[in-house]
Amino acid sequence: MATVAIIGTQWGDEGKGKIVDLLAEKAHIVVRFQGGNNAGHTLVVNGKKHIFHLIPSGILHEPTVCMIGNGVVIDPSVLIEEIRKLETNGIPVSGKKLIISPRAHVIMPYHKALDIARESRKGKSKIGTTGRGIGPCYEDKVARNGIRMEDLLDKNVLLEKLKIILEEKNFLFEHYYHQQPFSPEAIAEEYSAYGQKLAPFIGDVSTRLDQAIKEGRHVLFEGAQGTHLDIDHGTYPYVTSSNTISGNICCGSGISPLAINQIIGVAKAYTTRVGGGPFPTELADDLGNWLRDRGGEYGSTTGRPRRCGWFDATMVRVAKRVNGLTSLAITKLDVLTGLKTVMISNGYKHNGHVMSDEMPSQVKILEECKPEYVELPGWDEDIRSARRYSDLPPKAKKYIETIEEMVGVPVSIISVGPGREETIVLRKVFDNQ
Ligand code: IMP
Repeated sequence: MATVAIIGTQWGDEGKGKIVDLLAEKAHIVVRFQGGNNAGHTLVVNGKKHIFHLIPSGILHEPTVCMIGNGVVIDPSVLIEEIRKLETNGIPVSGKKLIISPRAHVIMPYHKALDIARESRKGKSKIGTTGRGIGPCYEDKVARNGIRMEDLLDKNVLLEKLKIILEEKNFLFEHYYHQQPFSPEAIAEEYSAYGQKLAPFIGDVSTRLDQAIKEGRHVLFEGAQGTHLDIDHGTYPYVTSSNTISGNICCGSGISPLAINQIIGVAKAYTTRVGGGPFPTELADDLGNWLRDRGGEYGSTTGRPRRCGWFDATMVRVAKRVNGLTSLAITKLDVLTGLKTVMISNGYKHNGHVMSDEMPSQVKILEECKPEYVELPGWDEDIRSARRYSDLPPKAKKYIETIEEMVGVPVSIISVGPGREETIVLRKVFDNQ
């Protein structure tokens, strides 16, 4: 039996999708437990590339069951479109294949409108959200003002709830944001129709997972975003609105903390960030542009260029601590090929004081931190055909071993290219691998 979590250790976009896809082949169940359609991963369906935002990566593997836990926030029109896209490409999605928790909260049109209206008012201090309504939806969940998937199944219940919710929200839209109010009737009509379409997929995720784990099934938990976008442990307020760390697997899917066996932290061989917020190892220069071009660093959800910089071992050490990482998957190592030297930050200097195991919680202080770099020689050899660790050139091995040593976690997987086969597996994750 193995239950394995895949967690981002940086600011998202670490290449979790490829690692999940690789392991999903051997998993019986793939579960999403937080976030929403602010995430994005590319799936190749019948030779065509598609970007999916909500459906877990395991959907393409025929026997794998996909679950969307209660901790996810769902935009039903996006989910329906993803199901439709799969079906028109010859991949049927039944209620046995995809199970959605009735407790998952729904992103409503007013959440999206609020997300966008607030960001445009913030000016320079904007977070750079994906504008998908994620934050306002989680706010309503915590305020006990949310609409859950189960509410879409009864139009009258939905309408009654919307009338109460919109009384306050429409006041804000009309008198503060100077926008058109929302009609509860129109939303109830549209969203109960989504409910009808999604009804076959709604089922209890917690009990089914519990049963599957007791039966010794292989379960993969697919994290979205990354540790440093976590609402509590990230670079607040430049974060997303959910807990992205492994602890939230339990809350977001309804299983025990004792049920998780392995926690794999995914780290890109360098660092990227999309949106605002501090980034100590950022390269706001030609080298940063070179990394962006070489690595194709543009957001899969918004298409925005990602900010690029050197690997930050402190960030990943923090990720090790807060997630309890059992191993690391290093992605995009091939992007660094051709650099004369490569740098890794192993701590920060602030006012003469060196910090190595902690990222200061105050954004202002983190912005003032200067990375303490270790310089390593780069490599020129094309590493995309490496399939075993021994195939890597000595300087690339030194880079991996330095990360391993600095973070204090063994590396289990190295990705040397976008293809599924362009991977070096150092340690088996599932026993049927
Ligand atoms: P939100 O999650 O849309 O509210 O955006 C909040 C912050 O998280 C912004 O800086 C986004 O760019 C960032 N963010 C959200 N989802 C992702 C993701 O999947 N990858 C990388 N950054 C993300």
